[in-house]
Amino acid sequence: MGSALVGFGKAVPALEVQNDDLKALVDTNDEWIRTRTGIESRHVAVAESNADLAEAAAREALGWADGGFAERRFEAGEIDLVVFATITPDMVVPSMAGLLRRRLGLENAIAFDLNAACTGFVYSLTVAETMMAASAPGAPGAAGRNPVRRALVVGSERLTHLTNWADRNTCVLFGDGAGAAVLEWSDERPGILSSFIVNEDDVTNALSCPSAYDAPQPFDANGVAPGVTTHDAAASRIAEELDVLEAVEAGRPRQTIYMNGQKVFKFAAEAMTEAVNRALERADVSLDEVACIVPHQANERIIKYAAKKLDRPMDLFQLSIAHAGNTSAASLPMALAEAYAAGRIKRGDKVVLVAFGGGFTSGAVVYEV
Ligand code: ACO
Repeated sequence: MGSALVGFGKAVPALEVQNDDLKALVDTNDEWIRTRTGIESRHVAVAESNADLAEAAAREALGWADGGFAERRFEAGEIDLVVFATITPDMVVPSMAGLLRRRLGLENAIAFDLNAACTGFVYSLTVAETMMAASAPGAPGAAGRNPVRRALVVGSERLTHLTNWADRNTCVLFGDGAGAAVLEWSDERPGILSSFIVNEDDVTNALSCPSAYDAPQPFDANGVAPGVTTHDAAASRIAEELDVLEAVEAGRPRQTIYMNGQKVFKFAAEAMTEAVNRALERADVSLDEVACIVPHQANERIIKYAAKKLDRPMDLFQLSIAHAGNTSAASLPMALAEAYAAGRIKRGDKVVLVAFGGGFTSGAVVYEV
């Protein structure tokens, strides 16, 4: 018995931006982006909100729309839980999960958001699976918990909303999109076999983005943000607030993603292999038994590095970065939906999902289809 993954969907915004299009913004070129990252194009949400993308992906995963892969049609009333991984919510309150619950009419669902940056989908699957297992008939203490038999797990981002379009180090990397999966508790299928999630302190502040309300960046060595304590600081804060208002009026957010690419690359390369190995160990599954590894799509070179360290060919890995870019929490479920749509993953296969991201966060999930 266990939480089986039974539905998958994805959605991207209409506008597709080619590498060469970015030459109008920064000093870059197609060859650099292609060879350093594997990215050829990405989708950018101009008209679509995060909720629009998430809804379209969820409809596919639930079997309500063509294009995804759903083992059957799941009715709205059957969904008990929505976990929504994102770092780019349209709203802080209500949560994106709450908005999605309303849009889809999931009247019986409890719903909340989760922020673990690009590892958000792996963390969300872990949380959903844990709630399902803890409330399953016969589980110790199950009667005292919310029963969760089916869950909708979403990773959805409007990441280009946080992109600094003047920074060639980062603006060529990111894209927008959404992916969704349906989990169903099964008495027969093993479903999710193991999960390994871990945090590590990003001591050098290699990857960060301030909130919309306060931008005390960078953090000091202890991870503490410098507060506004002096009169001058208060005055400059007010001036900043006015800028913010202007920026909001102009439809531009002021907060953008800062990243030291090389530091993140180094962390990511090690974290990916560690997470795969630890999750497989917990599942008592060997790498030889794995039919497909679906990784977070941040950079094809990071995936190649992991393949080398794991001593496995690249064709074991699902690659979806070329036309998506890095879509943070959406990247893994989007790649997963593509793998199913292509018929790459079949009943009985053992699959590893692995991701890393800001925080730092990283983790992997092993499941049997
Ligand atoms: N076009 C042309 N040249 C560029 C560009 C660009 N878009 N960007 C950087 N360069 C230049 C640099 O200025 C540098 O020039 P210099 O040698 O004259 O100084 C040169 O290219 C090499 O730059 P590096 O930073 O050394 O390039 P690198 O090979 O490390 O690739 C990259 C950079 C792609 C960012 C890589 O480090 C990476 O992918 N890191 C990991 C990013 C990641 O995985 N992030 C995940 C989390 S994102 C999130 O959580 C939202």
